[in-house]
Amino acid sequence: MKKMFICGNWKMNTDRRSAIALAEALKSSPSASHAVETGACPPFVYLSEVAEMLSGSDVSMGGQNMYFEPEGAFTGEVSAAMLLDVGCRYVILGHSERRHVMGEGDDLVNRKVRAACAAGLLPILCVGELLEEREAGQTEAVVERHISRGLEGVSREDAGEVVIAYEPVWAIGTGKTATPGQANEVHLFIRDLLGRIYDSDTAAKIRIQYGGSVKPDNALELMSQSEVDGALVGGASLKADAFEGIIAAAAEACG
Ligand code: 13P
Repeated sequence: MKKMFICGNWKMNTDRRSAIALAEALKSSPSASHAVETGACPPFVYLSEVAEMLSGSDVSMGGQNMYFEPEGAFTGEVSAAMLLDVGCRYVILGHSERRHVMGEGDDLVNRKVRAACAAGLLPILCVGELLEEREAGQTEAVVERHISRGLEGVSREDAGEVVIAYEPVWAIGTGKTATPGQANEVHLFIRDLLGRIYDSDTAAKIRIQYGGSVKPDNALELMSQSEVDGALVGGASLKADAFEGIIAAAAEACG
């Protein structure tokens, strides 16, 4: 059975002590279950300590970014092997903050996705439109470009393990959430697109998370949508009780 996946993206937040405390709370989540996988993506510098705290639990850990080269003179970057080495299973790639603040384009994101897959690290590929793109009716075109370019050269086997996070940029950190209907409409489009790129079995296997101002009070309705397989959570993942509320909603949504 495809598990819901609720993952926290801590972004450039926490310090050593709060990162360890958050990991400890996540480890003892009463709502995480066989139907809901939980995960956390701390800043690089706290990965080892978070991994130590999470050891022996089912909570997954991910990096927030990586570079596509295996090693070498790339000051400030980390490789897929390094993330695996400290206990990561996932890596967030193509997040809108990387695309729009750091200027990453589809080609760079694609190289990273391919390097992650080749190393055995599972990408959480983020896609989503800006507000002006939505208003100009370009949502599907933008999402299609992010996905088809992001997954270029990725085999069917590897694609089945990839997680897609649909994060409309206008909903990130703004308190504005896509309505459950708006989210599901784009998720359906993504599922269909993945079926066209690969096949319907592969498309059905791929988990599509929603991200953008997910909170305990909107999570149940979002997670109950037919094509929503979890959430990538920013702000609310920094508060243990709010994140637990989202995990509980996901558990309820999958019965
Ligand atoms: P918020 O939940 O803070 O809107 O952030 C969403 C996000 O960017 C997760 O990757």
